[in-house]
Amino acid sequence: MTDPILLTPGPLTTSADTKFAMLSDWGSWDSAFNSLTASVCRDLLAIVNGQSDHVCVPLQGSGTFAVEAALGTLVPKGGKVLVPDNGSYCKRIVRILGYLGREAVVLSHGEQEPVDPARIDAALAADPAITHVAQVHCETGTGILNPLAQIADIVAKHGRALIVDAMSSYGAIPIDARTLPFDALIAASGKCLEGVPGMGFVIARRTALERSGGNGYSLAMDLLDQWQYMQKTGQWRFTPPTHVLAALRVAIDQYLAQGGLTARLARYTDNCAALVSGMRALGFKTFLPDALQAPIIVTFHCPPDTAYDFNEFYRRVRDRGFILYPGKLTAVDTFRVGCIGAIGADTLTRAVSVMADVLREMGVRRVAHE
Ligand SMILES: Cc1ncc(COP(=O)(O)O)c(C=O)c1O
Repeated sequence: MTDPILLTPGPLTTSADTKFAMLSDWGSWDSAFNSLTASVCRDLLAIVNGQSDHVCVPLQGSGTFAVEAALGTLVPKGGKVLVPDNGSYCKRIVRILGYLGREAVVLSHGEQEPVDPARIDAALAADPAITHVAQVHCETGTGILNPLAQIADIVAKHGRALIVDAMSSYGAIPIDARTLPFDALIAASGKCLEGVPGMGFVIARRTALERSGGNGYSLAMDLLDQWQYMQKTGQWRFTPPTHVLAALRVAIDQYLAQGGLTARLARYTDNCAALVSGMRALGFKTFLPDALQAPIIVTFHCPPDTAYDFNEFYRRVRDRGFILYPGKLTAVDTFRVGCIGAIGADTLTRAVSVMADVLREMGVRRVAHE
């Protein structure tokens, strides 16, 4: 049986070599595994040119674990965090801050609106008590790309610290630590690096991490403790995700051999273009205008036809080998299709043709919204 193609933004379709890397067992204390950890961390840091001022701290768990660990470790107990919000992952940051008991100031935007750096500028000028800005780079809830470089400049101008959720952009959309100031950048194994899920990581400014002693609210989520232990022993503090790390090593090898970020962005851009043009030819409308769309995941309006039902559509498309993703918006009926993973534009073209067949079978005639 062949695996379905995952048109979802993590877990996503991985290459045969990446899957194959999980067929070995590793001893967590063994020097071979310690070297693997060190080499992966070195490469993760290099991908954003963070070698001079930053360190890489890996963490067991999904991406949210790493986001929570970064916020909980770096924001002090009396800290106040500005959260520019244009989607569901921004709202998740606000929820995390609530659990952590850290004050959040939400700067609400529409979901079709990129975060406005001028509003951040004004909010920081108006409130000197704000210590940090927590910004989602690519808001995967819709697929919108936020203007991270301008935001980082403004946060730095005000002398505040920036924490970036780069979960779905790291490795595909350029972020250069030498020119874009941040205290933490968070991503995970199973996104644009095309590894398997199970490990997050935080690229943290060394001085900010070193100053964070006493902030930690939880032993398991204390990034300073994780980093210091790793520095001392070369090992993870607690049971590491051995197979995930081994798969990530191979996925990064492929990433570098294929041409690194430039090549990955080019492939995802082609994937996105094939998807969007094919879907538009069927009558689908994208939720976002092209200028705001990141080539990571695309949100489409559901057809207005009464014969359309997402669960039925999903099931039939899945039976033909493609896994779609439900929408994450409450106000409008949408679904999402990911452009990332070890797939090319031909795969997206095939997926569009399967969706066309399924709509025909379901008797969906009206796809376009007037
Ligand atoms: C922008 C962003 N932040 C956070 C997460 C949370 O990651 P996870 O579902 O792995 O916990 C995701 C997952 O897709 C994401 O896209």
